[in-house]
Amino acid sequence: MAASATGSGPLTLQRVGILGLGAYVPPKKLTNSDLEKMVDTSDEWIRQRTGIQERRILEKSESCSDLAIRAAQAALADARCDPLELDLIIVGTVTGDYPFPSTATLVQAALGAWNAAAFDLSAACPGFIYAASVGTQFIASRRYRRVLAIGAEALTKILDFTDRSTCVIFGDAAGAALLAPFEECRRGEILDVDLYSRGGQPELLYLPGGGSKNPTSAETVGKNMHYLRMSGRDVYRVAVETMGDMVRKAIQKYGKDEVALVVPHQMNRRIIESVIDRLNLDPARVMVNIEQYGNTSAASVPVAFREAVDRGLAVPGKIVLLCAVGAGFTWGSITLRW
Ligand code: UT7
Repeated sequence: MAASATGSGPLTLQRVGILGLGAYVPPKKLTNSDLEKMVDTSDEWIRQRTGIQERRILEKSESCSDLAIRAAQAALADARCDPLELDLIIVGTVTGDYPFPSTATLVQAALGAWNAAAFDLSAACPGFIYAASVGTQFIASRRYRRVLAIGAEALTKILDFTDRSTCVIFGDAAGAALLAPFEECRRGEILDVDLYSRGGQPELLYLPGGGSKNPTSAETVGKNMHYLRMSGRDVYRVAVETMGDMVRKAIQKYGKDEVALVVPHQMNRRIIESVIDRLNLDPARVMVNIEQYGNTSAASVPVAFREAVDRGLAVPGKIVLLCAVGAGFTWGSITLRW
């Protein structure tokens, strides 16, 4: 039973940690040479401009919840946690199964997590960072003890495979973290959560149709408004600026030597390299797996984090920085002590 945060007396904040991590990518690969046969592009251009070699793609019959459920199951298995212990499930996604109900409720049912509340959160690429930040507050305030934060995206379902400027970049995946009181965790105390938004230019990266602004009609379908649209160069500029700021802030606070691992959103290898160059970071401390999966939006950070931990890149006692930026614009970071 969750403890109440609203009793009498001052609230002492609960320290929060990571009890389990999970990731899932669908088995089907879409390589650059596959894309060469679909659209006017080349393996060379994609590798040079983005660092991507291949990405994973869902089958026609599958959807976002299929990814989210598997990542959730992996995180629960990692934590040896029974789904009935879950208090809250938050899915950060912009490609949920339906506009409503939430994908989180689909995950709840598949897991049998009947004691959990469940909702989705729309924060584009930092969706996992936002979800984990919200979950952290619920545990810190002693309202809940087990929160599953998931980043899951079925981006290939909203790609226009005749638009070479977007279809080569994105892929499908999901990642999850089970948050719990730090005393029950072996690792990963959450030290800082920092969230930012700068609205005003939605058209730089958006899905124009299907919402209340442009409800689905024959016209919106005819005008290809149900596919992702992006002004890549503008997003690139904002990404370099904001990712650099978040890493700089962590270095200033904890010291460069203490920051043993940076897990940036995998959006473009050149963006990550530019942050490495500008801040003179050791590339061995910056997780990169974009070559295998492309940009998986909200799934990118938790998938890369899971892989970084498996590779032994997270150093016990040292700082891990997770950071991401995306549509909105929204950006944010989580700082952990591993
Ligand atoms: O998670 C947030 C989501 N968004 C992002 O991650 C996007 C961030 N932006 C980027 O990663 C880069 O801006 C892109 C990879 C999208 C584009 O790279 P770029 O170096 O900024 O290319 P560009 O848009 O300036 O285009 C350069 C040229 C253009 O041709 P011209 O006009 O110079 O003749 C494009 O038409 O490259 C062309 N081009 C391509 N050529 C071959 C664009 N896409 C392709 C392609 N294959 N797939």
